[in-house]
Amino acid sequence: MTVTSRTRVGIVGAGPAGLMLSVLLARRGIESVIVESRTREYCEARQRAGMLEAGTVAALRAAGVGKRLDAEGLEHDGIYLQFAGERQHVNFRELVGRTVTIYAQTEIVKDLIADRLAAGGVIEFSASSVAVSGIESAAPVLSYTDSAGVPHEVACDVIAGCDGFHGIARALVPGLSAYERTYPYAWLGILADAGPSTDELIYSRHPDGFALYSMRSPEVSRLYLQVPADESLDAWSDDRIWAELQKRFALPGWSVATGQITDKSITPMRSFVAGPMRHGRLFLAGDAAHIVPPCGAKGLNLAVGDAIVMASALSALLLDGSATLADAYSDTCLRRAWRATQFSYFMTSMTHVLPNDPFDDLAQLAQLRYVTSSPAAATSLAENYSGYESPKFES
Ligand code: APR
Ligand code: PHB
Repeated sequence: MTVTSRTRVGIVGAGPAGLMLSVLLARRGIESVIVESRTREYCEARQRAGMLEAGTVAALRAAGVGKRLDAEGLEHDGIYLQFAGERQHVNFRELVGRTVTIYAQTEIVKDLIADRLAAGGVIEFSASSVAVSGIESAAPVLSYTDSAGVPHEVACDVIAGCDGFHGIARALVPGLSAYERTYPYAWLGILADAGPSTDELIYSRHPDGFALYSMRSPEVSRLYLQVPADESLDAWSDDRIWAELQKRFALPGWSVATGQITDKSITPMRSFVAGPMRHGRLFLAGDAAHIVPPCGAKGLNLAVGDAIVMASALSALLLDGSATLADAYSDTCLRRAWRATQFSYFMTSMTHVLPNDPFDDLAQLAQLRYVTSSPAAATSLAENYSGYESPKFES
C-alpha cells in the first residue's frame, strides 16, 4: 500500500543545496521533505570541497548553522600563487575587504542534517525509485520507496531538484540547453594526517603540472595534483604522490609536511551549465544545473547561493502569492553560475599545464605575473574568489 502525505516543498537530494534549502525554508516557516538515495553515513563521509566565500559563511551564520563553522573554520586573508620559482600572496582582505574560510563540505552537510533532524524535519535517506510528476500543475508529486520497501507519494506545492549532476531532475525540464567543456586533465586529491606547512592555500603552476595545497584543520592537509584525465589511482603509490607534491611546491628552505594518507581519489574536470533552471513547479539548484572544475572552489558556494535565491523565491510564492522572484529564479542563478563558470575556467587555464604547448606556457606565466603584480588584476581575482554578488539570506 502506498503511503500518501503532503508537504509544501519536496526536495530531491541531501547535498549542500537540498539541505541548505530545507533549513532556510524552515526559518521562513515553510515545511519540506528531503528524499535522498544514499545513506546518511555516506552523505556525511563524502570528501568534497572546503573553501567558503564570505557570503556563504554569512548565510550559514544567518541561517543559525554557523556555530561549529565559527569555532573550527580557518579564516584566510587570501591565497598564494606559485610559478617560475616564486610564491606570491594575493591578499583579498586588503584588496576587496573580504576573507574566505576553510571548512569542509562534509562538516557543513553534518551541521545541516543535524539542524533539520533536531527540528523534526524529514530526511528520507536510502530512498529508491525516486520520481517526480505533475510539475506543470499546481500540485506536483514526489514519489519514492523508503528503506523498508514501502512506496510513498508526497503531494507538494513545489519540487526542488537538488540531486546533483547524476540526478533525475534536470531531464524533466523540456527544451533544456546545456553548455559543456571538458578538460584533458583530472585532480588526484589526498587527505593526510599532516599539519599544513602553509598558513594559506597555495595554487602552484609547475612545468610538470598544477598542484594545490589546501587543508582541513591544523592537523589535516588536503592536497591535489593535476594528472591526465584517464589516470588510474593504481599508478600513484603514497611515495610517488609525496615526491610529486614536493617537486611541484618546491621552494628553497621549505617543504611539504608529510603524514599518513587517509583518503585518495581522482576527480574529473568539467564545466557544465544547463538552463532554464526552472520549469513550472520544478526548480533546479546546485550541481543538478551546473558543474565547475574545482580550481577556484566555486561548486559548493554556487550550490548554497542557489538555495538562498530559491528560498526567497519560494517564500514569496508560497507565503505571499507573488511569482516575481520565482519567475526571475533561473536568470538570477544562471547569471551567477556563468560568472563562476568563467572564473573557474580562468583559474584552471592559468595554472594547468598542457603537454608540449610552449605558447600556452608563456601566456600562463604572463598572466600569473600580471595578477600578482597589477593591483587591478589582483583585485579582479580577489573579488571573484571571495564571492562576487553573493545572494544574502536575511535572518
Ligand atoms: N534521488 C534522490 N537523491 C539523489 C538522486 C535521486 N535520484 N540522485 C542523486 N541524489 C542525491 C545524491 O546522492 C547527493 O547526496 O542528491 C545529492 C546531491 O548532492 P551533491 O552532489 O553534493 O550536489 P549539491 O547539493 O548541488 O552540491 C554541490 O557538491 O559535488 C559537490 O563540488 C560540488 O561542492 C559542490 C556541491
Ligand atoms: C579544497 O580545500 O578542497 C579546495 C580548496 C580550494 C580549491 C579547491 C578545493 O580551489
